[in-house]
Amino acid sequence: MSLKIAFTGAGYIANIHAQAVRNLPDVELVAVVEKFSDKSEAFAEKFVVKCCYPSVEELLDEGGVDVLVICTPNFLHAPQAIAALERGVHVMVEKPMAMNAAEAEQMYEAAEKSGVTLMVAHCWRFDEDVLWLKEQVDRLGRIIRTKGYGVHTHWGPSGWFTEKDLAGGGAMADMGIHALDTARFLLGDPQPVSVYAKIGTYYKDFDVDDTGVTIVTWDDGAVSYIESGWWQPHSDGPEAATQLYGTQGFGQLFPTRLELPNVKEEIMDVIDAGFDFPRAEHCPQSMYNAQMAYFIECVQFSKKPIPGGAEGLVNMKIVDAAYESARTGKEVEIK
Ligand SMILES: NC(=O)c1ccc[n+]([C@@H]2O[C@H](COP(=O)([O-])OP(=O)(O)OC[C@H]3O[C@@H](n4cnc5c(N)ncnc54)[C@H](O)[C@@H]3O)[C@@H](O)[C@H]2O)c1
Repeated sequence: MSLKIAFTGAGYIANIHAQAVRNLPDVELVAVVEKFSDKSEAFAEKFVVKCCYPSVEELLDEGGVDVLVICTPNFLHAPQAIAALERGVHVMVEKPMAMNAAEAEQMYEAAEKSGVTLMVAHCWRFDEDVLWLKEQVDRLGRIIRTKGYGVHTHWGPSGWFTEKDLAGGGAMADMGIHALDTARFLLGDPQPVSVYAKIGTYYKDFDVDDTGVTIVTWDDGAVSYIESGWWQPHSDGPEAATQLYGTQGFGQLFPTRLELPNVKEEIMDVIDAGFDFPRAEHCPQSMYNAQMAYFIECVQFSKKPIPGGAEGLVNMKIVDAAYESARTGKEVEIK
């Protein structure tokens, strides 16, 4: 029997996820929840969706949906996810998982209690370059530090993204979290021990951050340095990338390659992954297709997804700690 999927939010990322659903067998996109009827109608027409609802409650009261994909502004992630999870509906929620760790914890608990699937859409874990580097990581020895960034150069989002009450945070919660989750994934999901950050707003007049540097110390001793930003005058490459510094070599994304010492010739051998660089699109549809396929597989075979609620929650704890550190000027321990 095919899985019946609903979307909430019919904006930018919903269109990408709906395209991914289209490619899958045994899955039917049956409903969309959207605040604005013109947007839900356009979405329903494009993806041949039968039912449009103005609220998640009305969708859930009507029933007949197995899966909810949450693509709304961040302040709606927790209430919409918890409402669905409590009714036994499987959820994939966009990053950041929630406004803060307290909300993320409630989502995690709701999923544990109901026993249904909760996945957090940390999409870079499904990217082919990232997966290549993950496969190679043991060749680098022990990873001592990572250096990464998630920034937009010469532009930034507008609307709800720039309002603290609707977004929770700015560039760190929006873009830095991509670099953070990528570093954590490549390191093998260590636990954070402490966070130190300098975060501020320098380019525009809004109440969330547009510039940040965050340093995370992990329980395996590795340290991650993460830059976050919107409206930046420069970036070292495409909008997000990560480098790994190991005891036996160096690995990086975009361009994706390794540098390993050749002791005999006293040079570094470069091992190129062989992917296109620069890419035609930095965030390719193929990454979102792989993510959706994995989520649906987890639902169909009752597998706990990684990244699930646990991974999303760790990221939210680090984001919270980064903002606290920036506010207090002190390193923040994570229990
Ligand atoms: N992983 C990625 O690559 C990626 C990229 C972009 C956005 N995102 C995330 O996806 C989420 C959505 O971002 P977006 O860029 O698609 O934003 P968007 O503004 O384009 O879309 C959000 C949609 O939600 C709708 N909405 C607002 N209130 C609603 C309500 N009460 N009920 C139903 N719908 C409502 C809006 O009308 C809008 O259509 C955010 O959490 C963002 O961080 C992730």
